[in-house]
Amino acid sequence: MSIALKDAVEKFKEEFGRVPSFVARAPGRVNIIGEHTDYNHGFVLPMAIERETVLVGAPRRDRQIYVYAANLCRRGVADIANCVRNREEPWMDYLVGVAHELLQRGLPVSGVDALVWGDVPIGAGLSSSASLEMATLAMFEHLGSFQLEGREAAQLGKRMENEFLGVKSGIMDQFIVRLGRENCALFLDCRTEDFEQIPVAFDNAVFVIADSGVKRGLAGSKYNERVQECLEAVDALKKSSGKSGTHLRDFGLEDLGAAKHSMREVVYRRARHVLTENERTREACNALRHGELVRLGTLMNESDESLRVDYEVTCPELDALTEIARSVPGCYGARMTGAGFGGCTVNLVAKDKVQHFADTVLSRYRQRTGIESRIIFSRPAPGASVLAL
Ligand code: GLA
Repeated sequence: MSIALKDAVEKFKEEFGRVPSFVARAPGRVNIIGEHTDYNHGFVLPMAIERETVLVGAPRRDRQIYVYAANLCRRGVADIANCVRNREEPWMDYLVGVAHELLQRGLPVSGVDALVWGDVPIGAGLSSSASLEMATLAMFEHLGSFQLEGREAAQLGKRMENEFLGVKSGIMDQFIVRLGRENCALFLDCRTEDFEQIPVAFDNAVFVIADSGVKRGLAGSKYNERVQECLEAVDALKKSSGKSGTHLRDFGLEDLGAAKHSMREVVYRRARHVLTENERTREACNALRHGELVRLGTLMNESDESLRVDYEVTCPELDALTEIARSVPGCYGARMTGAGFGGCTVNLVAKDKVQHFADTVLSRYRQRTGIESRIIFSRPAPGASVLAL
């Protein structure tokens, strides 16, 4: 655990004047490759990280959810009988949204006093929200003595974001946050939801995360616009190829080439990113399996280029961060990770060069942008879990 359990328990006692009975935890994640492919039914390769959200709590006899968000020093309360969004305390929506989804499925939701505490940076593209959602789900499962199957749990989180929050996100984040395994990355087919845990077993390289310091919010970002553009591409591809299909996954690069002039230029580029990214992600899995660092790094660089030029989800700070990273000896590859428009980069770096890499990136980025970046080291971590105290 990256959060000291003892401290969280003490904070809960101070806040609620009683002893907690459980701790639920869920990690953040970093996506190695396969960006903006999940909602197109494509492939992704994320890993969970050693940063987490914990919920320490105890059940209540009534139907109220009392939450203290220790990082924000904010308090929120919700009535299970009335699961609605909270304009004053929007972070509560993640907890209430999960309760709402469970009730929709006829599952029990208990009243609870809970303290939320975490060290997944918020708005940094490391899935602090999926982490809170999946910790919340683990909490209600524990309190209600039931357990959803992993895929079902991830689907519940996705549905909550799509329906309750109105963000058209895919399934990657909830999937890895729930199903992550120590020392493994997860290769997921977002159509069939078949997955494979691939050991991250290089002796001589590690993934290093760098935070651009530029915050982003999914709902306020151009995320939903990208989802829409992909659907526009699907329409044009269907007409041009005569094939039936629902997602970009159903088409190949030949179909796209043939349909080029029947779609807006920007839509063509969006689709080209998704189709080529799917290929890169499959190849990256093979490179990871065989420990081919140079190949994997090259694919990460190509993914970043495609996200910058075709998908247009990077920003000047992210571009500076990846460019600087690539200029440092020992860096095999660097790319933005997550939704983009700010947030973090993920870098594959030779183990014996890591300290020099971190120092150089931090100082050059500061010189160039005036922003204090931060470097996060993490091995692949396990997914959500709960512990009775
Ligand atoms: C966000 C979404 C994911 C995925 C990524 C981009 O993290 O929640 O579903 O679409 O962006 O790859």
